[in-house]
Amino acid sequence: MAGHIFSEKPELGKLATFAGNVRAPVHSWFHYKQGFSGQLVDFFLDRFRVEGRVLDPFCGSGTTLLACARRGITAIGCDLEPIAVVASNAKLASDAALLRAWLERLKGIDSSAAVPFGLAEKKAFSANTLAWIRAYSDAINGMPPAAKSFYRLALVKAAMRCSYAYRDGAVIKFQKHGIPGLRKVFLGMSRSMLRDLKHGHYSGHALFADATRLPFKAQSFSAIITSPPYLGQLDYHAAYAVENWLASGASAPLALGGKRASNSAYLKLLERFVAEAAKVLEPNAPCAIIVGNGYADDKVVPVDEQLAAMAGNAGFKVEQIMVLNRRYALQDRTRQAGVLRESAVLLTA
Ligand SMILES: C[S@@+](CC[C@H](N)C(=O)[O-])C[C@H]1O[C@@H](n2cnc3c(N)ncnc32)[C@H](O)[C@@H]1O
Repeated sequence: MAGHIFSEKPELGKLATFAGNVRAPVHSWFHYKQGFSGQLVDFFLDRFRVEGRVLDPFCGSGTTLLACARRGITAIGCDLEPIAVVASNAKLASDAALLRAWLERLKGIDSSAAVPFGLAEKKAFSANTLAWIRAYSDAINGMPPAAKSFYRLALVKAAMRCSYAYRDGAVIKFQKHGIPGLRKVFLGMSRSMLRDLKHGHYSGHALFADATRLPFKAQSFSAIITSPPYLGQLDYHAAYAVENWLASGASAPLALGGKRASNSAYLKLLERFVAEAAKVLEPNAPCAIIVGNGYADDKVVPVDEQLAAMAGNAGFKVEQIMVLNRRYALQDRTRQAGVLRESAVLLTA
């Protein structure tokens, strides 16, 4: 279509998935199926030779932020899911002495007496687990920011191991089964995360903010490396409802359910985001946006090309559409209905 320059990089295909993070220290702290791998961020950092601040407006589990921090580059992330903001900030925690001191205090905490929780919470956790969740959540609330996200993430991970809730695609289901005690799992999880920590200071942070209304000054970033949600793939809010409830301190009621964005709402999200991206980038700053094409109303939606066209309208120069993967769109789970590209749309502000 309309003169976009395509290039092929199948060797990066696997890195557009979370595979490279699964066994990587710290990157693996929160298994975010929808994430990309730290090495993909490294590839773009090398290519762009970034020195100033980097933005990831859809930061998810914080892959871009951590990859940048490890090179001494400050990166700022935004996301609308509390678990994403907590996981991203946890991965940037670097004050090992402070974190160890808090672990000693956590060891001395006892579970809360009977605590009132709603029906959904009781479906997801035993009464005993809920009492420990309350006690640890209260203790974490009193921590300084440099420790809070780290222990919140440890608690989310531990509580999910002790939960009756599990994810089936985007749907949360419940099944009663034998569960380990939360105290042991939480303290063990915290110790294992602490072992991953390297000394040195990491800068950067994630905030709860909307990529279509970025709360930053004009021309305040030197690069963007990001991946928005994919068309029709997942309602993050519904899929991560239990993690979000834990990540928010387990105080508001646990709300289950949600709905997927329509195609037109999805494309509007991309359009608003590129307009914002154009504003916050310095002149000539590079921008890499990883997107997947989708399948809707019996046809392939070429999201990469549509995004490139939107970016052109927003004032970006479209450098190329770098194709990383090709997958079949399946109808009725088996019939191959079309080929979907997963691409990095490369732009210059
Ligand atoms: C594909 S994931 C990003 C994964 C990330 N690259 C990683 O490696 O973990 C897309 C993220 O965008 C977030 N998101 C969706 N709509 C958003 C919006 N309007 N503003 C900010 N974040 C949003 C989702 O919650 C999700 O975490």
